[in-house]
Amino acid sequence: MTCPTLPRPGVVDPPVLLAPLAGFSDLPFRMMIRELGGLGLGFTEMLHPLALLRGTGDKMACLTATEPADTPLAWQLYGRDPELLARAARVLAARGARWIDLNMGCPVRKIVSRGEGAALLKTPDLAARIAEEVVRAVPGLTVSAKIRLGWDDSCIVAPALARQLVSAGISALIIHGRTAVQGFKGKADWNRIADVVASVPGIPIYGNGDISDGTEAIERMKSSGCTGIMVGRAAMKNPWLIPEIAATLQGQPVPPPPTPSEALAFALRHLARTSALYGKGKGAVLFRKWMPLYVRPFLRMKRAEMVALMAERDADVLAKQLAVLCPESVEKDQAF
Ligand SMILES: Cc1cc2nc3c(=O)[nH]c(=O)nc-3n(C[C@H](O)[C@H](O)[C@H](O)COP(=O)(O)O)c2cc1C
Repeated sequence: MTCPTLPRPGVVDPPVLLAPLAGFSDLPFRMMIRELGGLGLGFTEMLHPLALLRGTGDKMACLTATEPADTPLAWQLYGRDPELLARAARVLAARGARWIDLNMGCPVRKIVSRGEGAALLKTPDLAARIAEEVVRAVPGLTVSAKIRLGWDDSCIVAPALARQLVSAGISALIIHGRTAVQGFKGKADWNRIADVVASVPGIPIYGNGDISDGTEAIERMKSSGCTGIMVGRAAMKNPWLIPEIAATLQGQPVPPPPTPSEALAFALRHLARTSALYGKGKGAVLFRKWMPLYVRPFLRMKRAEMVALMAERDADVLAKQLAVLCPESVEKDQAF
């Protein structure tokens, strides 16, 4: 793994981050997004140090799969044991990682019931100790934390926690503008993200929550004072959003949306990468989740066509059927 030098720790150019998305932000998807251009930083999904340190097995190999062009990349760890997290960070550093991100925002019950993820919002001293140990374990690497506003509306801790984490040595923060209790409900509160920015001046802060186009990204960055933005769900539905946001931020013309045939070519390459990593059978099954997200809308596929394709269990056959079903995408193209 290699990584271009970052202008300064925690600063990426363009300031557009693809969110860690468990089950989605694997090497194939990251590489597809990188191919389109405009991505400042990709993330692995959250990795548990114990699983990482045990280190064997196909699942972990796929979760940690990367390649030289998959850069810059932040490796996200979650857990509550500072020493274990520090050991895992060292292992990643030895494998070439240049950026470690600490998950302090996952609201999933199984995770928070163990005191991990968003539960750390309720134990800020432990969160700061984790940050301190990890920063000390990997000198020279960027260590960031991804937090939420707080546990619930009555416990908004992000500005104070941000100060503690910065004192502990982290060099960047990602802040999702919801509380843990909110999960994904309601709207991300960018005013409260602005409060976090104001609480740690000079530290790169990436705002996160509900960004869905370039204009919105600029407005959110301006109004909150964030260094950049992180995009999650909207990029799963529209991978071309990342180059659109990057171009808007850089004041360049926004690339036109893909034609159906360009979208088909993209989906076929994504499928090929998925089957190269997971195998043809598992690759076909794993690719199913992308069908309703971006494949069907951008290829202008009928629902029944999509359902038939989702029954396919071999990636090669699926690729052929996609191509057969969607040469109409070429015809549809002409009608654009
Ligand atoms: C399917 C899915 C998986 C996610 N996995 C992770 C994860 O592994 N680590 C993490 O910090 N956040 C995870 N998140 C949260 C996102 O990174 C992001 O904070 C959230 O989706 C809000 O951003 P958005 O409105 O742009 O989607 C996940 C979200 C979704 C929808």
